[in-house]
Amino acid sequence: MTNKQNSAPQRFLTGITTTGTPHLGNYVGSIRPSVAASQGAGAESFYFLADYHALIKCDEPARIQQSTLEIAASWLAAGLDPERVTFYRQSDIPEIPELTWLLTCVTAKGVLNRAHAYKASVDKNNAAGNDPDADVSAGLFMYPVLMGADILMFKAHQVPVGRDQIQHIEMARDMAQRFNHLYGEHFVLPQALIEESVALLPGLDGRKMSKSYDNTIPLFTPRDQLKKLIAGIVTDSRAPGEPKDTEGSALFQIYQAFASAPETAALRQAFAEGIAWGDAKQTLFERIDQEVAPMRARYQALMQDPAKIEASLLAGADKARRLATPFIRELRQAVGLRKLVAAPAAAKSKATKTSEPVFKQYREADGKFHFKLLDGQGQLLLQSYGFESPKDAGKAIALLQAQGEAALPTLQQSLQPVPGVTADAIAAALQQWSAATP
Ligand code: TRP
Repeated sequence: MTNKQNSAPQRFLTGITTTGTPHLGNYVGSIRPSVAASQGAGAESFYFLADYHALIKCDEPARIQQSTLEIAASWLAAGLDPERVTFYRQSDIPEIPELTWLLTCVTAKGVLNRAHAYKASVDKNNAAGNDPDADVSAGLFMYPVLMGADILMFKAHQVPVGRDQIQHIEMARDMAQRFNHLYGEHFVLPQALIEESVALLPGLDGRKMSKSYDNTIPLFTPRDQLKKLIAGIVTDSRAPGEPKDTEGSALFQIYQAFASAPETAALRQAFAEGIAWGDAKQTLFERIDQEVAPMRARYQALMQDPAKIEASLLAGADKARRLATPFIRELRQAVGLRKLVAAPAAAKSKATKTSEPVFKQYREADGKFHFKLLDGQGQLLLQSYGFESPKDAGKAIALLQAQGEAALPTLQQSLQPVPGVTADAIAAALQQWSAATP
């Protein structure tokens, strides 16, 4: 990590693909630690519903919509506070697919050939004697680039993910590096954050809890259903009174993920003393339900009110786009997707008489050409020194209009200090200016 990254607040970002119903494994492995982290001070967290990613593996529209609702409701019910974090739906940010294309053009095809998910499909096809790319969509192939765009768009430092995703984060780093090398320092290099302490939760059959094994316990299944599912966890055939092994016991491992250390020690003791499996399952059920019940009630209320969730996601998208919109403009500028002429500043001021910021260009008594930026209330935000020609002043304005606050360091020499004006006010006005400009 560089010093520069150390001084800025650490930014965490993670996405959840919207193809399923959250289960206890998702809760323990992702939702619970993420919500806890988001409540810590000094972190900026971004959580999003990766619904563009969902299209790669799911062609059932209703399921994607339902999953988006369920996952959003789950995170909110688990205590995610959308005021503290940025919580949004990927497909509400059109800058993401746009950035995907910019990154596509700096990503080596050979690197994508080696991505695990794609390679697994190819290997399977080869083993079956099929065409290597049989049933492989270009979407699956491009998956890591879309994910790179998710991460790089928001300059995330840390990306909490499962081990299976480490390779994707490394690819995102490569894309960032390549882009920065070609076009200047625009991207932060992200790091994967692997929670060593978060154990993989076993499912009903003892294998990793996963939708693909059909062995999950839905996080917010009703109480009686939860009890039934827990009763179905595989155990060995030891009778009541016989000592039982905690090692390799799915039941014990799940308990451990919810219980405190003393509670876990007590169950270990009970195992040694030959607790009946039925009683152990009852203990597990009570312990999980104790943690889940209050969230389940919130979840059910949220599921009754999709409009509230929709509004919350849209507000999150708004917040996210306040970063994404100026950033993609900067990136377009960087790669050469540029306007051919600077937008005439005078025309703008006429159209935006009311409350938009305006650039004013004028000639002073010294014969030089100046400009200033005023906010919607006419307050002075930026004031240039004199330029030799109107063209030079126009160029500086065009740079500000194209790049927003990112142009400020470049123009530092040309701008006079304006007392009492914060960098934030300038950034906001520049952003507002471009938002008002088609
Ligand atoms: N690919 C991730 C998964 O399946 C989901 C995801 C999409 C993601 N974009 C992301 C995770 C960006 C972290 C950062 O788990």
